[in-house]
Amino acid sequence: MESPILQGKVKSVYDVPGEADKVSIVFHDKVTAWNGRAVEYPPEKGKICCLISAVIFQMLEKNGIKTHFLGTKGFDTMLCRKLTIVPVEVIVRNIAAGSIVKTTHLTEGTLIQPAIVEYFLKDDAKDDPLLTPDRVALMGINPEPMRDAALKINNHFQILFAQLGIDLVDFKLEFGHDSGQNLLLADELSPDSMRLWKEGTSESYDKDLFRKDKGDIVEAYNQILDKLNNLP
Ligand code: TYD
Repeated sequence: MESPILQGKVKSVYDVPGEADKVSIVFHDKVTAWNGRAVEYPPEKGKICCLISAVIFQMLEKNGIKTHFLGTKGFDTMLCRKLTIVPVEVIVRNIAAGSIVKTTHLTEGTLIQPAIVEYFLKDDAKDDPLLTPDRVALMGINPEPMRDAALKINNHFQILFAQLGIDLVDFKLEFGHDSGQNLLLADELSPDSMRLWKEGTSESYDKDLFRKDKGDIVEAYNQILDKLNNLP
């Protein structure tokens, strides 16, 4: 295969020959945490994250959210619109966990109602610091359309995960612009970039299992995929 135009920590992005406005995104059997300082290669993981992402992107598209998703190729590859990625990670929080617990006096499990939206710089070399909306604007990026889209997406996710018996704690989104300057949802939508707790508990079905060495992510992610595939 040709060399990737972009090599992420767990995904690679390739041009699509003859289709200048499309890319393929290949999901690898790899998981990382702590900005790449912990790495493992769990078999089947790429395929499971790709398939979960595909189901969730399709659900969002059906609900009128504009995304980069066009389809899948095989089990581990998504065909997507080519975008210029906004260098800001957008995080939505419904329950306190992770960095908000480490950097504030909120305790894990505190309900956050209404949900909040946060912005982090997408730059591993700077360790992805928290940004203020003013700083995002100073970078020449209007945070408002991303905030509006993120809150709409959260509403759709709440409905989806409630049907699966899962509490959606938080999740990370990335956005990008197409050649017409339209803002589209990008990246992946999988338990690698979400916190998913079994309803009413703090039992994780997400990457915290790897971060905290608390269980098999492939088994947990597969349960999420099964639940998605068995939705009525
Ligand atoms: P956050 O609590 O800010 O960071 P961490 O999990 O590293 O303590 O993360 C909030 C959500 O966003 C969580 O579900 C993980 C996800 N996320 C990513 O997918 N990538 C990232 O680079 C970051 C910082 C978070």
